[in-house]
Amino acid sequence: MEKENETKAEQEEQEQVVNPWEVSAKGSGKIDYDKLIDQFGCQRLDKTFVDRVFRLTSRSPHIFLRRNVFFAHRDFNEILDAYERGEKFYLYTGRGPSSEALHLGHLVPFMFTKYLQEAFKVPLVIQLTDDEKCMWKNLTVEESKRLARENAKDIIACGFDISRTFIFSDFDYVGGQVVGIFGFTGEDHIGKISFPPVQAVPSFPSSFPHLFSGKDKLRCLIPCAIDQDPYFRMTRDVAPRLGYSKPALIESLFFPALQGETGKMSASDANSAIYVTDSQKDIKYKVNKYAFSGGQDSVENHRKYGANLEVDIPFKYLSFFLEDDDELEHIRKEYGSGRMLTGEVKKRLIEVLTEIVERHRAARAAVTDEMVDAFMAVRPLPNMFN
Ligand code: TYM
Ligand code: TRP
Repeated sequence: MEKENETKAEQEEQEQVVNPWEVSAKGSGKIDYDKLIDQFGCQRLDKTFVDRVFRLTSRSPHIFLRRNVFFAHRDFNEILDAYERGEKFYLYTGRGPSSEALHLGHLVPFMFTKYLQEAFKVPLVIQLTDDEKCMWKNLTVEESKRLARENAKDIIACGFDISRTFIFSDFDYVGGQVVGIFGFTGEDHIGKISFPPVQAVPSFPSSFPHLFSGKDKLRCLIPCAIDQDPYFRMTRDVAPRLGYSKPALIESLFFPALQGETGKMSASDANSAIYVTDSQKDIKYKVNKYAFSGGQDSVENHRKYGANLEVDIPFKYLSFFLEDDDELEHIRKEYGSGRMLTGEVKKRLIEVLTEIVERHRAARAAVTDEMVDAFMAVRPLPNMFN
């Protein structure tokens, strides 16, 4: 995109763009999620869902559900209706392995999916679209496959249950199909045209004969951030024609860039994101240097006017990851009224993020290559619904 030559006024006029390849707010504002719900035609995930999930699973609702980080859905109510009647479903999510390490935004759908798997006791398939990244990022097939395995370790570290989880790479599992039919190699861009169906098909149980043979009516629930919605709008269009149920979706906000809520945390700009590989020192440096503050320019003004929490990134980050509702409420009041300063909020944020990243690092260090092979083995999962 050529942004350099545009005037500020021209940028203000631009509509927000949200799709799997680009996320940018209108002008220099924030993403308007209400508008997105209207544009995309999905539904708002309101408080009634939180209560219902709690009743159905007898588990305290995940922080991302309580805080409305997962804010939109398609047919999640139908999944719950069916579950209440005793019909199970399967979960499907994925990752495009474009970088060595995940950032905290990527963890959002995986942490949530782990909770859903545990709470509902259902099987899960995780797609690693190494073919997609090969096409868009011009990586070699070998490099894409390597990144897929590295990313699989981070995903496994989120705590998925191996007796209910199948992780697959497009190159290895979907295998020769697309490659063979179109005669495309890693360098070919014709593959882009045929990629969307590759992300669509895992929504249909027949893509996994070793798991769901004879269960063509099994419903699928897809947790993801809302950037992935376009793929599944298309999938839902074609599903009935193919004789399958439309996949249901549960969709999250973007964990924003350190610089502010105009886009999503991006893996390609190291200073915009906290990575799961960052040290405590990196986290401290990035938060202190880059996290956009809604605080006032002088302590005097800050005490007088308080912080603008609408644009404040440290507070936003805490609303994703600080578990304690009372403490968050306390910070909202104190910081918003100016009694608390940005430095204090950042200090707390650094602690919270460091703890998450340290925990993740320890879990990842325990993931061996044999475990990756085990999660990726094409095998039946006999107790996946128990
Ligand atoms: P990818 O690798 O770009 O992102 C992986 C998952 O993370 C979500 N995500 C975010 N969530 C919150 N805040 C952010 N800043 C943020 N950035 C990314 C994405 O929505 C996604 O859920 N094509 C896909 C891979 C894929 C997939 C799927 C994703 C294949 N099948 C089914 C979801 C569901 C991709 O490149 O994701
Ligand atoms: N390759 C598997 C088979 O031929 C299943 C499959 C087909 C698949 N299309 C897919 C898996 C797309 C994932 C995505 O039976």
